[in-house]
Amino acid sequence: GADQELRTLLLSRIHDVPDYPKPGVTFKDITPLLADATAFAALTDAFAGLCREYGATKVVGLEARGFILAAPVAVRAGVGFVPVRKAGKLPGATLGQAYALEYGTAEIELHADALVPGDRVLVIDDVLATGGTAEASLKLIRRAGAEVAGVAVLMELGFLPGRERLAGELAGAPLEAL
Ligand code: PRP
Repeated sequence: GADQELRTLLLSRIHDVPDYPKPGVTFKDITPLLADATAFAALTDAFAGLCREYGATKVVGLEARGFILAAPVAVRAGVGFVPVRKAGKLPGATLGQAYALEYGTAEIELHADALVPGDRVLVIDDVLATGGTAEASLKLIRRAGAEVAGVAVLMELGFLPGRERLAGELAGAPLEAL
């Protein structure tokens, strides 16, 4: 995790929205953090520091909030940005990966030529919940012939077993929750 001062700043800019998107669920709203230039810059710097520490050559952002967080990190760290999108959104030839949700399945896609062998990829997203999205993204990165440098998220929901679900596909790569 991040140092205490950064954690306190980030937590103060993430707002709990009760009963959204459905009753009983508390949504973690990061829009106040994004609107705070100091907090957003501090978050970007922390992610970019991990990017350098892990020797990443590409940053992958997971649709949609992951795009917002990952793109400035790529610029700051001086590496390319690659989107992993929900199925049907990318225009070129894609690799697709389905994964299980609580009810049903979802599918995400990566442009087949976006990564090359030798790439080391840092995956960035806002929240690790069940871990299904991140796990599927790691499978895509490996299928594209690249290496997983690590996963970095703003928040990890500790009451869900996302970290456990991700462990196998991480294969020893770091998972950092700021
Ligand atoms: C949320 C979140 C992560 C994912 C985490 O995205 O931004 O990407 O779910 O959940 P998991 O660990 O259980 O897979 P969402 O599907 O709401 O997409 P959006 O950002 O496009 O709204």
